[in-house]
This record gives sequence, C-alpha cells and structure tokens, in this order.
Amino acid sequence: MKDILTAPFVEEMKKMTANMYRLGWDERNGGNISYLLDENEVSEYLDTAHVCRTIPIGFSAPSLIGKLFIVTGTGKYFKNVADDPQTNLGIIRIAEDAQTAELLWGFADGGKFTSELPAHLMSHMARLAVDPQNRVIMHTHPTHTLAMNYVHELDEKALTHTLWEMCTECIVVFPDGVGVLPWMLCGTNTIGEATAQKMKEFRLVVWAMHGMYGAGKTLDETFGLIETVEKAAQIYMLTAHLPRINTITDTQLKDLAELFGVIYRKDFLNL
Ligand code: 13P
Ligand code: ZN
Repeated sequence: MKDILTAPFVEEMKKMTANMYRLGWDERNGGNISYLLDENEVSEYLDTAHVCRTIPIGFSAPSLIGKLFIVTGTGKYFKNVADDPQTNLGIIRIAEDAQTAELLWGFADGGKFTSELPAHLMSHMARLAVDPQNRVIMHTHPTHTLAMNYVHELDEKALTHTLWEMCTECIVVFPDGVGVLPWMLCGTNTIGEATAQKMKEFRLVVWAMHGMYGAGKTLDETFGLIETVEKAAQIYMLTAHLPRINTITDTQLKDLAELFGVIYRKDFLNL
C-alpha cells in the first residue's frame, strides 16, 4: 500500500487550499471543497473495505451510493490543510443507504465533513446529471465578488452581463453565466437544494452576500472559473464609482462567443 500523504489527490487539495487561502478568499474556516475520486486510484493508498466510522449526512444522495469524495472538514482552516491533511481533510464513501458517509481516512481529531455537505453532494448529483465528467464542487468567499454583491443588482442577467463586460475573456470562460441565490441560511438542506437547482443550468452560483460555488471536471478548472469571476468583480469594484468612458459592447461579446465557439446565454445580451 502506498502512503496516502503522497497521493496526487491529497497533494492537489493541499496546493489548492493553500493557494485559495493566500488569495484571501478563505478566512478562518471559510470555504469548502469536495472532489470525487476514482475508487481504483484510492485503493492504491487505502484499504477501502475498512471504514473508520460512519457519519449521517442528513439527506439522501441515491445517485452517489458507493462514490468516494475527498472533502474539507467543518471548522477547519484552509491555511492549515497542507501541514496537517489527515486532520483537515477526510475521504468519505456514500453508503448503501444513501444517507450515511463512511469515513475511510482523515478527520483524525474526530471531526467531520464541511457543514455545507448538502450543497456539495446535491450539486454533485445535479452536475453529474448534466456532465458525467464533473468531479469538483468548490465553495469560497472571494473578496471582490462579495463586495460587488453589496453594490450591484443581484439579478442573474444583470450580474452576468456586468461581469462579461469587465474582461474580454469572461464570456468565453463562463458563457453559461452566473446563477444567483438570494441570501439564505447556510449549512442547510434548503440552501443545498436551491444550489443544486441552479447547478442544473450554471457551473457558477453566487450565494448573495456570502460567497461563490463553482463546479468543474478538475480542481484547476473549477478554480479558474471562480478566479475569472473574481477578477471581473475586482475590475468592477475598481471602476464602478468612476465615469465609464469605454465598454465592451454586446456585439463584441457576441463576436467573441462565436469566434471561440462557446454556447452562451444569448438572453443575457441585449441584442
Ligand atoms: P465549514 O467550516 O463547515 O466548511 O463552513 C465554512 C463555510 O464557508 C460555510 O459556508
Ligand atoms: Zn461559506
């Protein structure tokens, strides 16, 4: 058996959480990540028949039965993951009853998975139904995106349109736009269900005045989506109080989307 601390998926989680912490997006225990793993790969590092303990998940995830995820722990700090992955991360498998997580590794101090597990697993179910390659759900509190939430209309079309205008690449990176949920109580099944509903249509969902959710095939792709929104939000916050002299027009946005051959939300442009 190989040493799990050398597993590529543990390494990736260490690097990603450290990077996100350094960007200032994940203060204290802010943010959480879940990453669907390949059981064959995990079994090179762990006896997957050995369950350390079981933890109820509080909802039912039937389409995820038998699937393994590496997940950040509740109350754990992204800044500490790299130094102590076995305490701050855990590998869980969704049990046959669809309502229990079997802990295969991690949460070594008796801890458990993120309080946002409902939003994560329900979003995995929603994204996998749209894209069987989806593996990652990422939640974070990116600074400028959050700032923008306080001063910009929180309508999906209006918000996406403004973000697309802020960087030439935006419509190419997230042509499907950004979904928006109003402020809701976090850590609940209700916000999980609402997030998953949005995830049927969007890979990016803003939780108003809280943060962002992203979905993707890899950690890099998911991070890149959120990073691009955050960059656009930063440019918005640097310019919103100044007279706008120039802008990218809707015709130019359409030209970009067509040149790059992306399927974009035509109804989010005013043409
Ligand atoms: P957890 O510490 O439970 O992951 O919660 C952090 C967070 O960002 C809540 O939305
Ligand atoms: Zn949060």
